[in-house]
Amino acid sequence: MNEFTAIIPAAGKGVRLLPYTANMPKTMICVAGKPILGHILDQVESLGIKKVVFIVGYKKEAIIEFVQSQYPHLEANFVEQPEPKGLGQAIYLAKEKVSGPCFILLGDTIVDGDLKPLVFGGQNAIGIRAVQDPSRFGIVELKNGKIVSFEEKPARPKSNLAIIGAYSFLDSAQLFSALEEVIRSGKTVKNEIQLTDALSVLLARGVEIHPVQMNDWFDCGTVEVLLQTNRLLLDRHHRIPAGLERNNKIIPPCWIADGVQAQNCTLGPYVSIAYEAQLTDCALKDAIVGPQTRLQNKTAEHTVLDKYNF
Ligand code: G1P
Repeated sequence: MNEFTAIIPAAGKGVRLLPYTANMPKTMICVAGKPILGHILDQVESLGIKKVVFIVGYKKEAIIEFVQSQYPHLEANFVEQPEPKGLGQAIYLAKEKVSGPCFILLGDTIVDGDLKPLVFGGQNAIGIRAVQDPSRFGIVELKNGKIVSFEEKPARPKSNLAIIGAYSFLDSAQLFSALEEVIRSGKTVKNEIQLTDALSVLLARGVEIHPVQMNDWFDCGTVEVLLQTNRLLLDRHHRIPAGLERNNKIIPPCWIADGVQAQNCTLGPYVSIAYEAQLTDCALKDAIVGPQTRLQNKTAEHTVLDKYNF
């Protein structure tokens, strides 16, 4: 067992994904056959990390139930963030549960590549990627390959290199001390205590944070981006459980979870269906079907369906 603790902040509501987030937290929204949180925890498992601290708030029961039923072997700790005061505060709340090295993966961050170089590179590290709309993100400025500044959602970004939401710290105590400095100073951006500001504090203290380019990062901020992410992931991971093609027409690529029941359906291309869904007489393409969704006589394209919205 490795000594890293994973911290997954997942307290946010995800207003840009309404109505899907009216009944569940953003991290439980499905893409490519499983909740975003499932993709995150699969990454955590592939890194061999056993201890995970979840920062929960909005609709926390859904997260706790999912983690306990689907990932029972993880050593899961749940810490509540009572009010949405920002990512910096969310991470600081994990302080009592974390010592030694830690790896942070934001609850809406899907990385479909190898995170080992970032996490186990033997240095503090942060995942970055060039984006078209840098003012929506935390931004790093590089000089000779080294980070010389961090800024959260700047109006005039100094670069187009966004912080993707994956961070690795060799010494979590250093991080918590930097967060404490930000909290004490009263500094906020957009009314929230920012993790990015703690990174600036670390930089000012002479602590190096190594940038790691991550091109396999998928944003899930809006329904449109969610469907796009679904298509991109299905191009890489096509999966149909044995026997499903007997009573249905499946047009690849699709990702259908084990145990999904389907009868007399035409599914695909680009359809993902999560666990315990049941479909009869449906024709779907370019669609995401969430867990435990029941659909009958449904013809739809370019849409997200879940047990509350169908
Ligand atoms: C957070 C971070 C930001 C980062 C982004 C990645 O912002 O504060 O630095 O670039 O995640 O998605 P949020 O998306 O919570 O506004």
